[in-house]
Amino acid sequence: MPRDQFPALQKSTYLNTAGGAPIPLAAHAAAVQYYQESLEDGDVYWNTWLERTDNARREVGELVGASARHVAFLGNASAGLNLVADLDEPGVFASADSEFPSCTLPWLRRGFKHARWRTREDGAFDVDDIARVAGNATVLVVSWVQFASGFRADLAAISDFCASRGIRLVVDGTQAVGAFPLDATELGIDALVFSGYKWLTAGYGVAGLVMPKGLPELGSPHAGWRSQVDPFDLRSDVVAPGLDGAHAEAGHPPFPAVFSLGASAALWNGQGTRATSQRILSLVGHLNQGLERIGVPVLSPSDPRLQSGIVLLDVKDPADVARQLSKRGIVTSARRAGLRVSVHAYNTADELDLLVGELAGILGR
Ligand SMILES: Cc1ncc(COP(=O)(O)O)c(C=O)c1O
Repeated sequence: MPRDQFPALQKSTYLNTAGGAPIPLAAHAAAVQYYQESLEDGDVYWNTWLERTDNARREVGELVGASARHVAFLGNASAGLNLVADLDEPGVFASADSEFPSCTLPWLRRGFKHARWRTREDGAFDVDDIARVAGNATVLVVSWVQFASGFRADLAAISDFCASRGIRLVVDGTQAVGAFPLDATELGIDALVFSGYKWLTAGYGVAGLVMPKGLPELGSPHAGWRSQVDPFDLRSDVVAPGLDGAHAEAGHPPFPAVFSLGASAALWNGQGTRATSQRILSLVGHLNQGLERIGVPVLSPSDPRLQSGIVLLDVKDPADVARQLSKRGIVTSARRAGLRVSVHAYNTADELDLLVGELAGILGR
């Protein structure tokens, strides 16, 4: 795995990808190239930048199983979720009770009724839990991986459930895209949203909105020159929406961040998401064994089929433990009731052993 692409890994034991990942040299170079071109020549590269944006669409499409024309780039995942919430008249939306705020607030804000299913102690839920509350939902919003517990949802089962009830399926892939394989088209996902700065290692400033079936008949609810079927027509008196997912970009995409995202997506495509996910799950298994040895309980699921790169540890005063680890050069974060350790494929078993050793010292085990 490409450790040499990530200089930040030389400086600390970096176990906080679920917060924000270090970027690889390739992502850095892609943004620097844009700023250099802009510095030296102004806007003369504009057409090249549009071509590079399309390259990034292809890389991201390959990563998530969608056609490049249905990949849109926005500033952050929350913007994508708000746009998706604007596609429907208010009805009933269903979500887990443990969701990240951006997965519920856009629908609550627009007056949707909320059907909440309960997560279990380890953060897990299944389709039976969902079916109990979501019978009359019009849209279901689910994080592929939950930000705190790390529970990884069975998207195939959820998608079958939604298809059988005519419910639109919205997936927030922020905590998994880049790390786990996905075929959003085959799964029948209506909208997939994800930030670029976590498992995709692209830095801040860009998120993906992927609608494998395209936009509905009326087009994007957020209109601008680039939401038009022919953006270069430049008519301001006729609404003529394009129906590709990419038409969700009402205006220019954030070029430098998009180029970084394209470079990072190429890197993870090169590694292969299957290999990446297998390495993550194997490292998580190694970490769990070490934590068991020193008697630190894990709040995340123990079944590898439900696991992700996020492991939530049950420690007293997680914020203080994170601070103490940080002083020892180990970067983690405190989330909800636990200490969140995140493991990407660029981490090593030695780093996890170091964490377990330091935790044993801090917790007096
Ligand atoms: C599941 C999930 N969605 C969205 C976000 C934030 O996305 P953004 O800041 O790009 O809107 C986070 C951040 O932790 C997250 O965990």
